[in-house]
This record gives sequence, C-alpha cells and structure tokens, in this order.
Amino acid sequence: MNVDDIRRDFPILSQTIRGKPLIYLDSGASAQKPRAVIDAMVNAMETQYANVHRGLHWMSERTTDAYEATRDAAAKLMNAGDRAEIVFTRNSTEAMNLVAHSYGRGILKAGQAVVISAMEHHSNIVPWQMLRDAHGVELRVAPITDAGELDMAAFEALLEDGKVGLVSVTHMSNVLGTVTPAERIVQIAHAHGAKAMFDGSQAIVHRPIDVQALGCDFYAWTGHKLYGPTGIGVLWARRELLEAMPPFLGGGDMISSVTFEKSTWAQVPHKFEAGTPAILEGIGLKAAIDYVLGIGYEALAAHELALTDHALARLGAIEGLKIYGRAQDRGGVISFMLDKAHAHDVATLLDRQGIAVRAGNHCAEPLMRRLGVDSTARASFGMYTTMAEIDALADTLNRVREFFT
Ligand code: ALA
Repeated sequence: MNVDDIRRDFPILSQTIRGKPLIYLDSGASAQKPRAVIDAMVNAMETQYANVHRGLHWMSERTTDAYEATRDAAAKLMNAGDRAEIVFTRNSTEAMNLVAHSYGRGILKAGQAVVISAMEHHSNIVPWQMLRDAHGVELRVAPITDAGELDMAAFEALLEDGKVGLVSVTHMSNVLGTVTPAERIVQIAHAHGAKAMFDGSQAIVHRPIDVQALGCDFYAWTGHKLYGPTGIGVLWARRELLEAMPPFLGGGDMISSVTFEKSTWAQVPHKFEAGTPAILEGIGLKAAIDYVLGIGYEALAAHELALTDHALARLGAIEGLKIYGRAQDRGGVISFMLDKAHAHDVATLLDRQGIAVRAGNHCAEPLMRRLGVDSTARASFGMYTTMAEIDALADTLNRVREFFT
C-alpha cells in the first residue's frame, strides 16, 4: 500500500488551511472521499439518473441496477450469505433505531432486557432507552475496565438470569479505540438465549467483517466513515429475523399491496426501505466499497497498526498528556487530554496549524462520566494518514502545552 498514491486519490487532501497543509485527523467522525466516489455520483447524475424500483424506462432500470449493485457489494464486504440481508438505512443510528423499534417492540417482550456497554455512542444508548420507556424492556449496562475494555465477567453476569433478549455493543469504541471481542460476545449472548448486535461504524473501516464467521444477528455501519457518502448506512440482519420483524417506516416501496383497510409488506429487504432511497449516495457507496476492497483490509490494517503504535509512542511521551483507553486490541482512534488545557482549546490551537481533530464528548456522555472528564480531544486516522502527520500533531501538542504552562 502506497500512501502517497492513495493521497492523490483524495482531492481534498491537497487543500491548505490558513496557509498550512491540511492534516485531517478526524476520519473517525467522517472520512474524506476518493475521486472514485465523487466521480461515481457525478457520473450517475450526468448519465443515468432516475428513481429506482419504479420506472419501466431505460433510465430507471439502469439506476436501479447501479443502486442494487451496492447491495451486492455490501453483502460481499460483510460476507453476508444472502443479499436480501442488506437493508439500506440513512446511517448506523437509523439502523439501530430500526432494530430497537422493529425487533424491540415487535419481538422483545416487556420484562426482557437489552444489554449495552458503558462505552457506547449515544446512537446505541438512546434507542434502547426509548424502547425501555415505551415497551417495558429493561436496559442493562455492562461496565468497562480502567484500560477501556469490556469487563467480560460482569458482562456475562448480566445475562445469567436468562432475561436478556438482545445484546447491542460497539465493535470498536469511537472514543477509546477499543475493539471488543465480538466472537466471544456472540457466544455468551447465544449461550444465554440472547441475540447479538454490533455497532460497527468504526470497526468496518479498519478490519474485515465476516458476519457469518462472527455468528452475530445484527450488524450496523455507515457509509460516510468508510470513505463513502453521507446519508447511506447498512443494517445487516439474519434473513429469518428480518422476515419475522414488523416494518419500521411505512410508505412507498415497502408494500406489496395497499387498501384503506389493510396493507401487506414487500419481501425483505424492501419491507424496511420505505420511500425514495439515497440513490446517488448508494451508488457512491459501491465505489467506496470497491475502493476499500481494491486496497485490501490486510494493507489497511497494517498501516493503521503502524500509525497507532507510532501515535501512542509520540503522544505518550508528551509530559502532561493523558491518553484514554489502553486496550490490547485497538484501532486508530486516540482520545487524549493535556493537563493544563481544555480539549476545545487544544483543538482550536491545533486547527490554527491546519490540524483537524475532534474535541468534545464524542456523542458518548456516559463514557465521559466513566472516564471522569467532560470532554477529550481525539485524533482518528484514515488510510491516507501519514507518519509525518502524526509527528506534526505531536510536535504541535508539545508547543500547545508550552503555551499553556
Ligand atoms: N460518531 C462520530 C464520531 O465519533 C460522529 O465522531
């Protein structure tokens, strides 16, 4: 994998910010887009755009083929056994709301429980709270260790009474970088009669996901972190679960027939895809998946591991800088604080040097409370991140620290 070649594929990376080269260390929030994605979307608009699944005309058929090819690409990406198991959503948040609303209200019974972890993004907390309040399902939270790993003994203990119907945890924390032991989580969930779901928003960017090997029941991710467009995400779920689940949103495209008395539903996955979808974004997502698979996860993971090791060493050597999360298995997301400065001030001063990081609670307020902070600064890496950019981050942080002392 040649990072210089990759960087040439991302037009935005040649920008300068306040006269300095852009150093984009916020890919965990949203990744930049390669030319292939931009071109796929522009080309679709210029040459073959119409609504999908509706028209009997040439344009609609071509657009439908291009959009549906993304379903095949997503199925291949995740090694789904059946393309009908790929449901397009707006993002991971909508995917998790779909499961909470449909599986939660339609299949789970009041008195059953859902287990999440203490390091979830709000998108894997709030839908379950809404389900709890509307449907009488209990919400249980598995703790994490001080290293930022899931406390597996405590997690298993939460399932022991057999009341848990669903476990929904992150596959990689957007704050700590922790990669959770997904196979083990699935085994424990299934051994106690619960289904297992993962928020794979961060994980799928960094490692190959094989849902059949994982053995899980639901897996959610979003296109914009995988170098694709915003507005398109994926829920993968076992076909028999999707068939048993009631629809989430009602409208066009998700029905088989409608009368004023009664409607019947389309086959899966269309039962869960009401309304005109994000057509162009779907087409762009296929280009992103092809681009990622063209480079290959092995190369991506090796690059990310090298970047992360280098960043942990460089940042770890800065006096007064604390890194949050020391999991054994971790990805390229590093949260930190400087002892004398607020995370927002750190981010602002980095920005003056053209370095983009995220600062705040990272949509994970309960985790911030667990860490004893109200915010952190966070550097997150993409396939285009270089060692030199990490050195620039570390050097600038040293200067920021001097400024505050
Ligand atoms: N979930 C995204 C992040 O962690 C937005 O920044």
